Amino acid sequence: MSVIDDVKQKTDIVDIISQYATLTKSGRTFRALCPFHSEKHPSFFVYPEQQTWHCFGACSTGGDAFSFVMKKEGVGFGEALQLLAGKAGITIPSRFTSEAEGDKKDRLHQANQAAAQYFQDLLLSSPAGKRARDYIASRGLSLQTITAFQLGFSQLSWEALKPYLLERGYTESELIEAGLIVATEEKGTHDRFRNRLMFPIFDIRGHVIGFGARALDDSMPKYLNSPQTPTFDKSSTLYGINFAAQAVRQQDLAVIVEGYMDVITAHQNDFTNVVATLGTAVTEKHIVSLKRLSKNVILALDADTAGEEAMLRCVDYENVLNAEIKVMILPGGKDPDNVIKEDPQNWQHLLETAQPVVDYTFNQVTANLDLNTARDKSAAVERLLPIIGKMKDSVRQDHYLNQLAKLTKVSYQRLESTLGKMKAGIKAKTASPGVITQALKPALSNPVEENYLALLLQHPELNSRCQNTLPEYFADTQNREIFIAYQQVKEVQLIKEEIDPALYEYLESLLNKSPSDTKIEQRCAEWLLRLRETFLRGIEMKKSEALAAAAESGGSPAELVKLQEQGIETSAQLKEVFIQKRQAKSGNSGS
Ligand code: CTP
Ligand code: MN
Repeated sequence: MSVIDDVKQKTDIVDIISQYATLTKSGRTFRALCPFHSEKHPSFFVYPEQQTWHCFGACSTGGDAFSFVMKKEGVGFGEALQLLAGKAGITIPSRFTSEAEGDKKDRLHQANQAAAQYFQDLLLSSPAGKRARDYIASRGLSLQTITAFQLGFSQLSWEALKPYLLERGYTESELIEAGLIVATEEKGTHDRFRNRLMFPIFDIRGHVIGFGARALDDSMPKYLNSPQTPTFDKSSTLYGINFAAQAVRQQDLAVIVEGYMDVITAHQNDFTNVVATLGTAVTEKHIVSLKRLSKNVILALDADTAGEEAMLRCVDYENVLNAEIKVMILPGGKDPDNVIKEDPQNWQHLLETAQPVVDYTFNQVTANLDLNTARDKSAAVERLLPIIGKMKDSVRQDHYLNQLAKLTKVSYQRLESTLGKMKAGIKAKTASPGVITQALKPALSNPVEENYLALLLQHPELNSRCQNTLPEYFADTQNREIFIAYQQVKEVQLIKEEIDPALYEYLESLLNKSPSDTKIEQRCAEWLLRLRETFLRGIEMKKSEALAAAAESGGSPAELVKLQEQGIETSAQLKEVFIQKRQAKSGNSGS
């Protein structure tokens, strides 16, 4: 799946638009005062099932989530993609970002890479680095590991890295933005990391995006991390992902641990599918980024707050992955680093005996309860039933419902009906917009639009044929943007200059779509007709829903009449399409 499709899939138009307009549910649609023009009566509608919007008022136009954000924020496709991706917790590969932005990120990556090199030189060969060298040796890391992970050392100085990088052409503001130096009121700017063991943090493509820095003595904090920067998002980054990606794919399994040292020790012992969160609990963003590599995840977490947090969210994450998450139970207070160093085979054994996180949660919750007492029975049900309720898979849900019944000796039927009530309660509470089930969402791609557009792009001779095609016929913003560029410049080479860089890859895919090489002109006419029909049917459907909604909420008569008139207009146009279709058919069979 392309990144754009990924963003589409994770975006709910109702969520997005409700950030800009007050939506009121009305039948199967939502309506609002149009956020693009001022009006007294709402003529702006959002259609969750189609994931589209339409303004029947002054704008008289519509589209998808992308076109909404582009119009509302006044940005191009690429920036809208960034924005929606950010909300969906998806990281956009740099090739999708605009050049200026990409250039800036490149600079920050380069500054961080230069810093990593500087720190590593200090670690490997400076006299001041001796303490750090001794420390690493005491933790059992090999030279090969040190160089692979590009570990380093930062000096006990306020001004060491800063002059080094300034001399190499980085500006003070770039270094601040990269999180490498800190600006204070009293002391001006100075190095952020001092007298620490440096762990460069890489993105999946191997760019240095930040650092974790461990104190070599008792100074606090034990670990100091780079701040949030344009290239470094702590809540979505997994330490070691660049080293682990291949193994995660090959073994179809990822192991999430808590610490930098846990990752490094694991990799040194050939457990290369291990990654760590950066001092935060596992987030949905972590899960989403792992999902691209494998949907099998084992958590090797301490049974403390982080572990607790993970348990609470586990079913949400399982629903994201569409798979069961497992947990590895580490023996008494040990972290993976200890366990692996002591006995690598034990790690392998713990991996193999990892248990489903839901089972683990059941055990944890019931361990301290006396399930013969009424009070503890309801305590167990109160904690565990919500977890069961979130499961998408009904067979699994049934399995755990049975288990809970067995454990608490509460009848299955009673639990089931409590669950039903609980779900109804949740539904009533979340009357707020959003929460559309994936099943209701429209398909990601739009074959009619794509086929027609690909045909136009691949056959320059069809130029004159598409004059009756309106950009609005393309519901999908990707297609619409490319078509608009095509209309303007016609030549494929020039289209690239007109569109947002975020669309290059998609344009390529259209150009590479297997060409239809017979009856091109006829095919072109057919696709156009189908496109037009789909568009008009869509408008008609939207109008009738809008009309129903307006009537239901006692819309003003003038408004209803206007909508109805527009409805008549589209049905006339649709009739025209049908006539053309019939003509085309009889033409075909005649020849
Ligand atoms: N961490 C952090 N900031 C802190 C403490 C911890 O970001 N002040 C993160 C680090 O990623 C660290 C992880 O949480 O690796 C786990 O912390 P902890 O268990 O305290 O450290 P260990 O990984 O065991 O570190 P070490 O083995 O070096 O003592
Ligand atoms: Mn440790």
